[in-house]
Amino acid sequence: MALLGLSGNVVTVEVDIADGLPMYSLLGLPDAALSESRDRVRAAMVNSSEIWPNKKVTVSLSPAWLPKSGSSFDLSIAIAIVIAQGNAKQESVDATLILGELALDGRIRSVRGVLPALIAGYKAGITRAIVPASNLAEAKLMSGMQVLGFESIAELLRFLRTGEVSVAVPLDLEIQENDDLPDFADVAGQPTARFAAEVAASGGHHLILIGPPGAGKTMIASRLPTILPALSMEEALEVTAVHSIAGSLASRSPMSRIAPFVSPHHSASRVAMVGGGAHVIKPGACSLAHHGVLFIDEAPECGVGVLDSLRQPLESGTITIARSVGSLTFPANFLLVLAANPCPCGKFTGKGRNCTCSSQQVRRYLGKLSGPLMDRIDMRVQVEPVGRVDMADSNIGESSQAIRARVSSARVKAAKRFSHDGWTLNSQIPSRALRTQYKPERGAMNFLHEELDKERLTARGLHKVIRLAWTLADLTEKDIPTLNEVKSAYSLREGSEL
Ligand SMILES: Nc1ncnc2c1ncn2[C@@H]1O[C@H](COP(=O)(O)OP(=O)(O)O)[C@@H](O)[C@H]1O
Ligand SMILES: [Mg+2]
Ligand SMILES: [Zn+2]
Repeated sequence: MALLGLSGNVVTVEVDIADGLPMYSLLGLPDAALSESRDRVRAAMVNSSEIWPNKKVTVSLSPAWLPKSGSSFDLSIAIAIVIAQGNAKQESVDATLILGELALDGRIRSVRGVLPALIAGYKAGITRAIVPASNLAEAKLMSGMQVLGFESIAELLRFLRTGEVSVAVPLDLEIQENDDLPDFADVAGQPTARFAAEVAASGGHHLILIGPPGAGKTMIASRLPTILPALSMEEALEVTAVHSIAGSLASRSPMSRIAPFVSPHHSASRVAMVGGGAHVIKPGACSLAHHGVLFIDEAPECGVGVLDSLRQPLESGTITIARSVGSLTFPANFLLVLAANPCPCGKFTGKGRNCTCSSQQVRRYLGKLSGPLMDRIDMRVQVEPVGRVDMADSNIGESSQAIRARVSSARVKAAKRFSHDGWTLNSQIPSRALRTQYKPERGAMNFLHEELDKERLTARGLHKVIRLAWTLADLTEKDIPTLNEVKSAYSLREGSEL
């Protein structure tokens, strides 16, 4: 399988062995890693007591025009060479998708992109796959296909020759209910930030948390996946497919239905953020956060242009990466959470205590976040360090489970309301619809128009307040936002206390 993003093309491997001086040629637009397959395949075969043909070997990967990259063709090339010598039967691998990199000693190494490769194969009518044993858990997600995992080329060839499987790899396909996830119960105090997180999860509203170090910004953001609804099976498969291509499944169970949490460092490059790469195109942080949370700590410290590269995915839920042989699209639909210190030294509190920054530095610091990006952020929440009283309070905070129940029912309400609209979350209501069928109560509109007239609110700000107000209404079981919800939404957006 040659993968292009999440889609793939079936590649047929043919081998011809002819008399002549020992020679090996590989046809079909291989990249460097693939060209090196000869040495891996030869060493792996010889070290597995298979015969390497000292003749003229021609390996052809077709369709020939399709560029092919990486090491996942090793195993299929080795098997084709064995079959071409008559040492295994062609029928044993008929209509079988074979994936795997070979180690020099004959072990089969894991490869990236197994799940998307299988999905593409399934769509092409292939019903059987041979994969590295270490990719089996991921591969088994592709129900409807017979999937076999092997540790070494010797083990695989024994199976192809005799039908004998030496080790049955036991698999636990139960969905892991992870007890060691963090919980909102651990967060003391911070009523505003906790509430903002609940609103963000309910309506899909992006959020910035502003506060000094140690206030609990990271703590709160990293708990968002525990209050987001569990992923549907389809969403979980999509997330696993993206992580499979990125090779980051080790840190995430392939069966997980918890929304992903991805937190690139502020020194991350543009490519790390949105994806790309010179040879192998890898999805970036924004795609790894698909259906989950993208958290960027110390956002004003991000490199020039890095945050702005998120504008396309924020707009469309996908990211397109241009490359020499055509462009490639990955899904990237995430909840964005930014965290920022209030000033370069981090200690600014409004009263200026302990802060060593000039007032100009303070003003400029958050200004580093560009207007177009901040336009997409619906809530601006000040987070002050928790006081001693809060920390000493023996009443623990509300659990993630309790919050998640409210989030889920708010989402159900919104989805029902939008059932004929083509979107599901309040953050997705188009401006046009906000002026017509999704207007708040009259009193609330009057309040907003007054704020507009006093130029305390821009037209864009007004739309964001209304979207937020809908989420607040859904959370309080109201059918339409009233003045109350609109005022609360207004203060969440502006970052003042409720
Ligand atoms: N509201 C809070 N409740 C409980 N512990 C907290 C709270 N805020 C901060 N802490 C403690 O301080 C540590 C640092 O918090 P963190 O979330 O990393 O702060 P920030 O990201 O704002 O710098 C946490 O690991 C936790 O032990
Ligand atoms: Mg932090
Ligand atoms: Zn400062």
